[in-house]
Amino acid sequence: MALDMPPIVTLTLNPCVDVSYDIDRLIEDQKVHANANRFDPGGNGINVARALKRLQRPAHACAVLGGEIGALFTRLAAPQVEQLHDVRIDGETRINVTLQQQQPRAQFEVSGIGPTLNASALQQVTDMVLRLAGNGYAVLTGSRMPGVPTDYYAEMVNALRRQGARTVIDAQGEMLAQAVAARPFLIKPNRAELEQLIQRRLDNPRAVVEAAQAVCDQGVEWVCVSLGADGAVLVSEEQAVLGVAPHVKVASTVGAGDSMVGALVHAFSRGDTPEDALRLALACGSGTAAQPGTELFDPRALPDLLSRTQVSNWQDESPPQGRSRLQM
Ligand SMILES: Nc1ncnc2c1ncn2[C@@H]1O[C@H](COP(=O)(O)OP(=O)(O)OP(=O)(O)O)[C@@H](O)[C@H]1O
Ligand SMILES: [Mg+2]
Repeated sequence: MALDMPPIVTLTLNPCVDVSYDIDRLIEDQKVHANANRFDPGGNGINVARALKRLQRPAHACAVLGGEIGALFTRLAAPQVEQLHDVRIDGETRINVTLQQQQPRAQFEVSGIGPTLNASALQQVTDMVLRLAGNGYAVLTGSRMPGVPTDYYAEMVNALRRQGARTVIDAQGEMLAQAVAARPFLIKPNRAELEQLIQRRLDNPRAVVEAAQAVCDQGVEWVCVSLGADGAVLVSEEQAVLGVAPHVKVASTVGAGDSMVGALVHAFSRGDTPEDALRLALACGSGTAAQPGTELFDPRALPDLLSRTQVSNWQDESPPQGRSRLQM
């Protein structure tokens, strides 16, 4: 890593071991044998760190782990994240299961219940993130963490700002709303999360851009709204960049949003333009959608994905080819 690169830290308070099974068909009361299975370290923050490693961007991944599943998590994470820092607690890290059914094509997901965080473990991991982030970037993701107060991200945004660090938030509901009031550097809601935040339906691109601008007016520097297969918009007080996702054969969208967040923080931390940041984010998000189960984008596919990702400024009168796909 170039010495002048600011540090990036991701936080995963409720990590999991992701188990994905490829099956022909799930049938009630019958045993089904998997055609293939995969084990991955999971949780949004870990996925962001996995995406950063694929972008050859070193990052620190902080996670709270428990028990034997926590030990398995550590082993699985070793080749996939640059540097894992853990805080150990009682109880077992959860296991999340994804079933990828072939006929008819469908995906089933069960999310497990993680151990409840106690105040001392939360304090330890908080101190760890603040120390490692320095004046760089902290990525705070996830919204369901037993034992974590809803103003936790908001308090972190404030503490990180005091030390000159920028915070990226990917959360929803009350945790996102409170974090927004603390004015983070960037948030990455999908359309439903933004609708919930501003308590309004957003049924066309203009409404999405205006809603994102309203959030920027509250002091959030950048709002990236992801729109699934339709792409995404990246908005600040002065600018709105619109991007169309490259077409891919979708295998599983698990981790698509996390890949996008990893790409955004990488791009902003090295000083990319907003246009380039959004292009990379879309290429990584869609690259992940093209991969099965919990597998993230293949970095070797990025040049092709980037060449097929269209971005343009909202003010431009000439939309990129395919803008018409941005109908929601
Ligand atoms: N069906 C798809 N086809 C192509 N690209 C996709 C598709 N779904 C997602 N993507 C890519 O991934 C990005 C993020 O997807 P999405 O808006 O679904 O995020 P999200 O809802 O936060 O996802 P997550 O479930 O990972 O939290 C999109 O902007 C797009 O680039
Ligand atoms: Mg998401």
